[in-house]
Amino acid sequence: MIRSMKSDIRIFSDLASLNESAAQSMKESINKTDGSAQYSLALAGGNTPQALYRLLADKYVHNITWDKVRLFWGDERYVSLEDSRSNFRMARETLLDHVPIPSKHIHPMQTDYPDPNDAARAYELTLRSHFHSKWPRFNLIILGLGGDGHTASLFSKSVSLEEKRWVIPSRAPIEPTQRLTLTLPVLSNAEQIFFIVTGADKAKILKKVLARDADVISYPAAGVLQKNTSVTIWTDKDASKLL
Ligand code: 6PG
Repeated sequence: MIRSMKSDIRIFSDLASLNESAAQSMKESINKTDGSAQYSLALAGGNTPQALYRLLADKYVHNITWDKVRLFWGDERYVSLEDSRSNFRMARETLLDHVPIPSKHIHPMQTDYPDPNDAARAYELTLRSHFHSKWPRFNLIILGLGGDGHTASLFSKSVSLEEKRWVIPSRAPIEPTQRLTLTLPVLSNAEQIFFIVTGADKAKILKKVLARDADVISYPAAGVLQKNTSVTIWTDKDASKLL
């Protein structure tokens, strides 16, 4: 593993060691939650984090204090939670069905409101209840990086630098186009962010979003990197070859 001096970029020779290290880091972070404190974790969707979720389900069932975890999502596709494209369903199948997180501690973004604006407002109320109406500060948010520089479901032009809302509906350029997403100020306020970025197809965009002058409106992931001071990028040799 090589640490880059530019920021906390952890480069691994293979995905197995990357995911093992990320899982260990999550275990240490969750298990140091003291007393009755809760650990607020927001998951990413897409393909990349699935191997990490499966590893947690396979090897970390008994050595993480799962009962402290309160589970949320960074974004969701606006489909049924049983739809094969749902981020909740992906997490349920790879992780939640295999670890002892009480269902009352699992907070999926509800996607059955006719108007996604109402769904966004409902999720904000869920967050307000958990964070006691204080500005949400997740212990950890796991994020992926899209080839166009999006993260969660913050796509180019869907980001407002004056955003005051915690959750918004957004439109993706790919199906399912209707999404819900945490906003940039919420992502930027997390105690820890893990970006998991692997594969040669992410090399160009990873270099772009890490550039100091990266435009946040064009590349929303750059907004998180510029504003959140505790970002760890878990990446492999292919995705980091241009750094
Ligand atoms: C989603 C994700 C999205 C994802 C990126 C990267 O709902 O699809 O939240 O932001 O993290 O698109 O996706 P991959 O990991 O599949 O490359």
